[in-house]
Amino acid sequence: MKDKNHSQKPTHSATAIAHPNIAFIKYWGNRDDALRLPLNSSLSMNLDGLETRTTISFDESLNADSLTLNGILQEGAGLARVSAFLDSARELAVQRGILKPELQKRYFAQVVSENSFPAGAGIASSASAFAALAMAVDGALGLNLPEAQLSRLARLGSGSASRSIPTGFVEWHAGQDDESSYAESFAPPSHWDLVDMVVIVDRGHKQVGSSQGHPLARTSPLNELRVAGVDERLKVCKNAILARDFEAFAWATELDSEWMHAVMRTSTPSLRYWTELTELILWQVRYWRQQGHALCTTVDAGPNVHVIGTQNELDFALPALKALPGVMDVIVARPGAGAGLI
Ligand code: PMV
Repeated sequence: MKDKNHSQKPTHSATAIAHPNIAFIKYWGNRDDALRLPLNSSLSMNLDGLETRTTISFDESLNADSLTLNGILQEGAGLARVSAFLDSARELAVQRGILKPELQKRYFAQVVSENSFPAGAGIASSASAFAALAMAVDGALGLNLPEAQLSRLARLGSGSASRSIPTGFVEWHAGQDDESSYAESFAPPSHWDLVDMVVIVDRGHKQVGSSQGHPLARTSPLNELRVAGVDERLKVCKNAILARDFEAFAWATELDSEWMHAVMRTSTPSLRYWTELTELILWQVRYWRQQGHALCTTVDAGPNVHVIGTQNELDFALPALKALPGVMDVIVARPGAGAGLI
């Protein structure tokens, strides 16, 4: 480790940026909740223009980890999750001979993180948050992890964060164990000019976050059926992206979102994220597609709808979506890069 400030008690810091991602083939449910080994492989696109920027400073004189998110000092569950993640990173640094074993339990860090997109915008911030954090830790401690290992590290903080490490269009291989469960890019952002129009219908915080939601998947009688069909949908979706075949892409993407929400609804307790307005937008977009527009939908663990289309649909779709009664805002994002140090 390089001592960057030449003081007696060294500090190591770095700043990283990562983008959130939208999954076309969803991750829902784990084989191993602690390691976040997913039940199935998933597919996503990073979202350009939206970002998390995180600075981490490890400092021997600190007594505990701290987390400042969008200018507000965090306590409780948010801080505990970040601290648990940093424990894994410290352990890794000791294993790699970068951190002295006696420092593993007390080389605390100050984490300062800002999102360029509003909370409750229907864009999962945990993906960009843990991808940026993994990248920043890598830079600060000088771990120099190859991309697959960075993706695995990010996965420990949030499953979908593994997909925000590589660039563009990304597949997260479910794998068998910690080592084989990581994400990699299969096409750069420039490959296909898709746009994600995130239609905000509700700004409230979701009642059940995905970390609490994943363990419920196995209580649904539909879970096994969903998982049994994922590989086929993923193959269709990936090939459709590679061939820029919007029709096949829309089929696989919409069907996969429906399957995830079917599992959510039939879990105990039941998770029901959609509102009437969610449903209305799904109907509306389906109607527009029948009229010949290259548009489709996907919904994460919340009521806001991601309307995916080709760039040439933007002039039609953006004002049309904004004009729907009850729509609060529409955020536009294009295919984005992977995580990086600045
Ligand atoms: O990474 P998590 O634990 O926030 O889970 C993400 C789950 C979904 O957003 C609903 C689906 C996905 O694949 O991103």
